Amino acid sequence: MKTITTLLPIKYPIIQAGMVWVSGGKLAAASANAGILGVIGAGSMKPDLLAEHIRKAFSLTNHPERLAVNVPLLYEKSKEQLETSLKLGIKIFITSAGSPKIYTKWLKEQGAIVIHVTSSPELAKKCEEAGCDAVIAEGFEAGGHNGREEITTMVLIPQVADAIKIPVIAAGGIIDGRGIAAAMSLGAQGVQLGTRFVMTAESSAHQNFKEAIKTSTPNSTMLMMKKHVPVRLLRNPFFDEVKKLEEQAAGVEELIKLLSHGRAKAGMLEGDMINGELEIGQGCSMIRDCPTVEEVVNKLLSEYEKTISVLEKF
Ligand SMILES: Cc1cc2nc3c(=O)[nH]c(=O)nc-3n(C[C@H](O)[C@H](O)[C@H](O)COP(=O)(O)O)c2cc1C
Repeated sequence: MKTITTLLPIKYPIIQAGMVWVSGGKLAAASANAGILGVIGAGSMKPDLLAEHIRKAFSLTNHPERLAVNVPLLYEKSKEQLETSLKLGIKIFITSAGSPKIYTKWLKEQGAIVIHVTSSPELAKKCEEAGCDAVIAEGFEAGGHNGREEITTMVLIPQVADAIKIPVIAAGGIIDGRGIAAAMSLGAQGVQLGTRFVMTAESSAHQNFKEAIKTSTPNSTMLMMKKHVPVRLLRNPFFDEVKKLEEQAAGVEELIKLLSHGRAKAGMLEGDMINGELEIGQGCSMIRDCPTVEEVVNKLLSEYEKTISVLEKF
C-alpha cells in the first residue's frame, strides 16, 4: 500500500494534528520521537511564542525533520508565522481555514512541503491545482473548526480520493487502529488524529478538560456556530450560551462578542469548565485514558495490525 511515508520523513503514516492551545513543542517533539509527524498548532500563537515552541520542539527530539507547523490562514499574522517557521528550519506546513492559493506557490519556492486541509472534494481539487503536495480531508466528526458542508469522513474520503491524484490524508473521528484501517480502505494514504492526541500526557490540554473527555458520551459534542466559524464543541455551560444565542437567531456580531473573551484559552488551556470553549471531536467518548504519545502510537499500530489480519481472513 502506498502511504505518505514516501512524501514525509516519518516511520508511520500518522500525523498528530495541529491544535490550538493543545499542540505545543512538547507534544510535537514526542510525536516526532514516536515516528509520526509532530505538528505545532500555531493558531493560538503570536510569532514570538511560535518561535519558542519550535525551538523547544527541536531541543526535545533527534528527528527535527518530523516536525511541522499548522497555520490557519484566517489569522492576520499567518504570513509572519510562516516566515518565522521557515527561518527556524521548519520544512513541512499544514495550512487550513483559507484558500490554498494564498501561500502554497510561495512556500513551494522556499522548498517546503505543503498540505492543505479540505472538507469537500471541490476544495481538494483546488488544493491540487494550487500545487499542494497532499490534502488532509477532514470529515464532520472532527474536533475544532469544521467545514460547513457536514460531510462525514466515511463519505468524504472516497470522493476526495477519486477527485485528485495527490495523496489524501483522512481526518475526523479516527481514534484507534480500526479507524486507521477503515480510512486506508477508503482510499487514504495516511491519517491525521487530533482528539486522540489531546488525551496524551504531553498535550497541553488542561487536566479538567481531560477529565471531562473521560466521562463524555457519544452525544457529548455538537457542531456549533455554523453562521460564524463552525466548530465542534463539548457540551458545558459555555456551549449552552452559544446554543441559546443560536436558538434566538443571534447575528454573527453577537457570536463574535461571546468569543472575544479568550474563551478557547480559558477552556482548553486553563481548565475553566464553565466559561471556557472546549473543542473536541465526536470520537471523544471512545477515549478513557491519557497515556504518553509513544504508548498511543504503539497501541494504534497493534490495533491496526489486528484489524488487517481479521480483514484478510474475511
Ligand atoms: C482541541 C482541538 C483544536 C484544534 N485546532 C485546530 C487548528 O488550530 N487548526 C486546524 O487546522 N485544525 C485544528 N483542529 C482539527 C485537527 O487538526 C484535526 O484535523 C481534527 O482534530 C481531526 O479530527 P479528530 O479530532 O476526530 O481526530 C483542532 C482539533 C482539536 C480537537
